[in-house]
Amino acid sequence: MMDQADSLRNLVNKNFNNANKKAELSSRVITVTSGKGGVGKTNFSLNLAIQFSKFNKRVVIIDADFGLANIEVLFGILPKYNLADVLRGEKDVEDVLTDGPMGIKFISGGSGLKELSNISEKQLNYFINNFSYLDAISDIIIIDTGAGISKSVINFIKASDETIIVTTPEPTSITDAYALIKTIKEERYGNIPDFKVVVNRVDDDEEGIEIYNKISRASSKFLGVPLQNLGYIPYDRFLVKAVKHQQPATMCFPNCEFTKAIEKIGSILMDVPVNKDTDKSGIRGFVKRLVNIFGG
Ligand SMILES: Nc1ncnc2c1ncn2[C@@H]1O[C@H](COP(=O)(O)OP(=O)(O)O)[C@@H](O)[C@H]1O
Ligand SMILES: [Mg+2]
Repeated sequence: MMDQADSLRNLVNKNFNNANKKAELSSRVITVTSGKGGVGKTNFSLNLAIQFSKFNKRVVIIDADFGLANIEVLFGILPKYNLADVLRGEKDVEDVLTDGPMGIKFISGGSGLKELSNISEKQLNYFINNFSYLDAISDIIIIDTGAGISKSVINFIKASDETIIVTTPEPTSITDAYALIKTIKEERYGNIPDFKVVVNRVDDDEEGIEIYNKISRASSKFLGVPLQNLGYIPYDRFLVKAVKHQQPATMCFPNCEFTKAIEKIGSILMDVPVNKDTDKSGIRGFVKRLVNIFGG
C-alpha cells in the first residue's frame, strides 16, 4: 500500500517530469549556512548577490532564517507577503518576490517551510508549479538559512547542490561548523552536498588560512568529508557602518576591504562548473529533494 510519503514522491516526480520537458534552463541554488549565529551569513548572501548581478546574473535571495527578517532589514525594504503565503496557496511566487537594489529580488521566508510536511496534494502541486517559475526568472538563487542544527536547515543543506558554510575564527563558531557537517554526514538519507567554506571576520589572510586548515583537516580526517576553500573576509568597520545605514556594503563602500573580499569570492564561484541536468539542478531539483526529504 502506498503511504503518504510515497504518494507525495509520486506526485512530485510526475510534476517535475512534466515541467522538465518545457524548461531548458535551471537556476543554480546556493545555500548559505553556519553552525553558529551572527557570523555574517546574511551580509555575505546579500553582497554576494550584488556581486553576481554585476556579472549580469539574475539573482533571487530566499530568506530562510525563519522568524528573523534579515534580508529585508539590510535592504531597508518591507515585503508585503512571504513564502508561507505561497505554501498556503494564497499567493503566487510572483506576488512574494520583492525588488531589491541592482535588480536583485528576494523572498521573505515568513513562518517557513514547516508546513511542507503536512501539506495536501493540491497545495503541494500548486507550490511546486509556482516555485519552478524561479528557474525561468533567475540564474542564481541564494538561500540564506538560520544558524544551527535545526531540521529545516539540515533539509535545506541536504537538498542543495552547493552549500557555503560561513564561520569566524572564534572557537565556538568553528566547532559549531564542524558539528553541522558531522550531523549532515550522519543523516541517513540523501547525498552529502559539496561544502565550501568562507572564514569571515579575520584579522588577515594568515588567520583565514589557519582557520580553514583547522576545519578542513578535521572534516577530512574524522568525517571523510572534503571541504573547499572559498576564501576569507576581513573584519571591516565599513561593513558595520553599512549595516547601520541599512545598505549593502558593496554598494555604499565599493572600495572597502569587505567589498574586495566579496568580489574575489564572487569570481571564484562564477568559475565553478555548474550541473546542467535540469532534473537534478535548479530550484526544481532543489524543491524535489526537499519534498522527498520532508515527505520521507
Ligand atoms: N566582515 C565583517 N566585519 C565586521 N563586522 C562584521 C563582519 N561580518 C559580520 N559582521 C557583524 O556581524 C553582524 C551579524 O552579521 P549577519 O550577516 O547578520 O550574521 P548572520 O546572518 O550569520 O546572523 C553584522 O551586523 C556586523 O555587525
Ligand atoms: Mg542572518
